[in-house]
Amino acid sequence: MNNYKVALIPGDGIGADVTAAALAVVQDAARRHGFTIQTTPFDWSCAHYLQTGAMMPDDGIETLRRFDAIFLGAVGWPRTVPDSVSLHGLLLPIRKAFNQYANIRPHRLLPGVEGPLRSDGFDILCIRENTEGEYSGAGGRVHQGMGNEVAVETAIFTRAGVERILRFAFEQAQARRGHVTSVTKSNAQKYSMVFWDEVTREVAADYPDVTVSHMHIDAMAARMVMAPESLDVVVASNLFGDILTDLGAAIQGGLGFAASANICPDGTGPSMFEPVHGSAPDIAGQNIANPIAAIWSASMMLSHLGEGRAADAIMTAIEAATAQGIGTAPGSHSTETITAAILTALEANA
Ligand code: NAI
Ligand code: MG
Repeated sequence: MNNYKVALIPGDGIGADVTAAALAVVQDAARRHGFTIQTTPFDWSCAHYLQTGAMMPDDGIETLRRFDAIFLGAVGWPRTVPDSVSLHGLLLPIRKAFNQYANIRPHRLLPGVEGPLRSDGFDILCIRENTEGEYSGAGGRVHQGMGNEVAVETAIFTRAGVERILRFAFEQAQARRGHVTSVTKSNAQKYSMVFWDEVTREVAADYPDVTVSHMHIDAMAARMVMAPESLDVVVASNLFGDILTDLGAAIQGGLGFAASANICPDGTGPSMFEPVHGSAPDIAGQNIANPIAAIWSASMMLSHLGEGRAADAIMTAIEAATAQGIGTAPGSHSTETITAAILTALEANA
C-alpha cells in the first residue's frame, strides 16, 4: 500500500480550520482508495514568530525536504507581524528552496456557484512563474529618507526560467484542450517581454499539437471578464500571474473557491499545496471559512502524488455538495457543515 508523508502547516487564522477540513476529506478518500497519508504538523506561523523570532526554525527547509508534499493553510497576522516578514519568512523561502517554479491555479465555476459574470462555461488553468521575474528581489534604495531618494527594482528573466515554465504550460495544455495563451507586455517592456515572446515561439515548435496565442496583460484582463470561455491554459510571469489569478478567483465566485499548487516539476523537492486565500483575520475562529478552496487544493495534491482516482472522487464530491447549494454563498453554511456534506458525497459515490 502506498504511504505518503505530508508536512502540514496550518499557519494563522482560518488556515487551521480549512486544513483540518481538507485533511478529514483526504484521509477519507485515502481509506477508500487504498493508500495512506501520514501527516506531520508544524506550528510555523506568526504566533511562532512572536515566540521565537522566526517564522520557522533555521533547519525548517531541511526538515520539509524529506516529505512527499507540503500542505499549507494560510500565513499572516498583520496586527502583530508585518506581512513582509511573514511572507518572506515562510512561503517565499519554501517556494524558492524547492524550486517550485510553477504556480498553478484552476479557475472554473463549480455547479451551483454564482459568479459575477454572465458567462459560466469557462475552465481556465493559470500557470504563474513562481521563482523569478518581477519578484526576484533584485534592487535597492539609495539616499534613503532624503529628498533625492531612489528606489530600483529589477525584473530578472533567465532563459532557463522562462523556458521551463513555458514547457510546463505546453505540457498542461496537451493534457487539456490544447491551447496556450502566453501573457506579456512586449509592446512596452521591450527587453524582458520580447525575450519571453521569443522563447515562447521556440518552445512552441516542440509542441506542434498545441496552439499558442500571445496577449498583452491589459487586454488579457479584459478578456478574462468578457470571454473567459475562450481560454484554456494561460501562462504568465510572476507579477502578471499574481494579478490575473486574483481576477480568476473573482470570476469563479471568490477566494473561498480558489485553489493552488506550487509545483516542483522535476521532483527534486516536495511541492506545496495551499488555498489562494489568506488567514482572513476578519472571520477567524468563527467556523464560517469556506474550506472548498483548501479541499480542492488537497485534491490537486493527491493528483500530483499519483492518486488521480482519489483526487477525482474529491472533486466529484465537492461538486455534489455545491450543486445542492452547500458552501456556495459566503457565510451560508459553517465550515463543518460544508465539510460534512463533502464527506457524505464521497461516501455516496464510493
Ligand atoms: P484574505 O484572503 O485572508 O481575506 C480577504 C477576504 O476574503 C476577507 O474578507 C476574508 O474574510 C475573505 N475570505 C478569505 N478566505 C475565505 C474563505 N475561505 N471563506 C470565506 N471568506 C474568505 O486576504 P487579506 O485579508 O488580504 O490577508 C489576511 C492575511 O493573510 C494577511 O496577513 C496576508 O498577508 C495573508 N495572506 C496569506 C496568503 C497565504 O498564506 N498564501 C495569501 C493571501 C494573504
Ligand atoms: Mg496574489
